[in-house]
Amino acid sequence: MTNMKAVELRPAHGGGTLSIASRPVPKPGRGEVLVRVRAASLNFRDLLVADHMYGALPETVVPLSDGAGEIAALGEGVSGLVPGQRVAGAFYPDWITGPITAAARTRSMGANMDGMLAQFALLPAHAAIPVPDHLSDEEAATLPCAGLTAWNALFNVAALQPGQDVLLIGSGGVSVFALQFARMAGARVIILSGSAEKRARLAKMGAHHLIDYKASPDWHKDVMQLTDGRGVDVVVEVGGPGTLEKSMQSVRVGGTIVAIGFVAQEGEGVAPRLVIGKSVNLQGITVGNCAQFHEMNRALSLHDLKPAIGHVFAMDNVEDAYALQRRAGHFGKIVIKVD
Ligand SMILES: NC(=O)c1ccc[n+]([C@@H]2O[C@H](COP(=O)([O-])OP(=O)(O)OC[C@H]3O[C@@H](n4cnc5c(N)ncnc54)[C@H](OP(=O)(O)O)[C@@H]3O)[C@@H](O)[C@H]2O)c1
Repeated sequence: MTNMKAVELRPAHGGGTLSIASRPVPKPGRGEVLVRVRAASLNFRDLLVADHMYGALPETVVPLSDGAGEIAALGEGVSGLVPGQRVAGAFYPDWITGPITAAARTRSMGANMDGMLAQFALLPAHAAIPVPDHLSDEEAATLPCAGLTAWNALFNVAALQPGQDVLLIGSGGVSVFALQFARMAGARVIILSGSAEKRARLAKMGAHHLIDYKASPDWHKDVMQLTDGRGVDVVVEVGGPGTLEKSMQSVRVGGTIVAIGFVAQEGEGVAPRLVIGKSVNLQGITVGNCAQFHEMNRALSLHDLKPAIGHVFAMDNVEDAYALQRRAGHFGKIVIKVD
């Protein structure tokens, strides 16, 4: 096969354009692997890329950070991986281990370098992460961004303990993974969702308390009541301007808020006195590194944990997949099969 089918995104303010293209199959250089991608998945972040709100971007890029498939070919000098092995790509292919640095986060898949929505993708060998055997390609394709971010937030930044209380904001990709991980770790989960149907599904997945943030705009008061006036130990903060102040009011003295996203755009900012007065550990994160990805996969395997998939699209219907993510109509991850 010399040519491959790929989706091309032209990022633009107000919404980029997507098209199906034919591109040469890339050849793995020294230290690289070529992956035959079988499935890719969408994140809120991919809308930011499409809308040209994600830093400097090329004119055209293969979108999506998240995808999985099997190794088709190894470049020179690659050891520890074999053709046919099932892998997912790392969001930050240059962030191998240790704390984040400017260099480690310079390149990210599906933004300023080609991503996973093509029949083949090139990765540095260390960024081709073997995936758990019990996961399908579609399930494995959801791990690199939402999965690893939730993992990093709960277990590396917040050092979550069994018995602690976790607050999750909305039922998006990061929050649903965080629900599964927090349950796995024996924590109690309070989760906000504006949809009755989604609340019912979150309850089925083991959420202990559900709050309708639309019906209860002062939801921090509900959180305080549910925790007997103490506040939660950890907030996985994906709301941003619209929720951060209330997250501050919901966290316990000395608790941790992991700042991740901004799905709730309408807000007035945060009073610093809340951070100071409660001695809050407020830590921003960006996804996670390759070593953490391996650690997450061990836990997924041990606990037989499967990501929640909501919708699967064909590659030719990529625009429908983006539209669904944009209107937040999804529960569980949106996956695109790459055939
Ligand atoms: N820093 C990082 O490393 C990192 C990594 C991944 C994601 N992110 C960011 O984290 C955020 C979440 O990403 P995602 O992919 O999980 O998003 P997503 O799947 O698109 O999340 C959508 C959900 O957000 C919830 N939501 C929207 N407005 C809300 C509001 N006002 N209050 C509470 N919940 C609200 C809704 O839940 P309901 O429908 O249940 O109401 C909606 O379904 C994004 O801002 C993304 O950019 C950052």
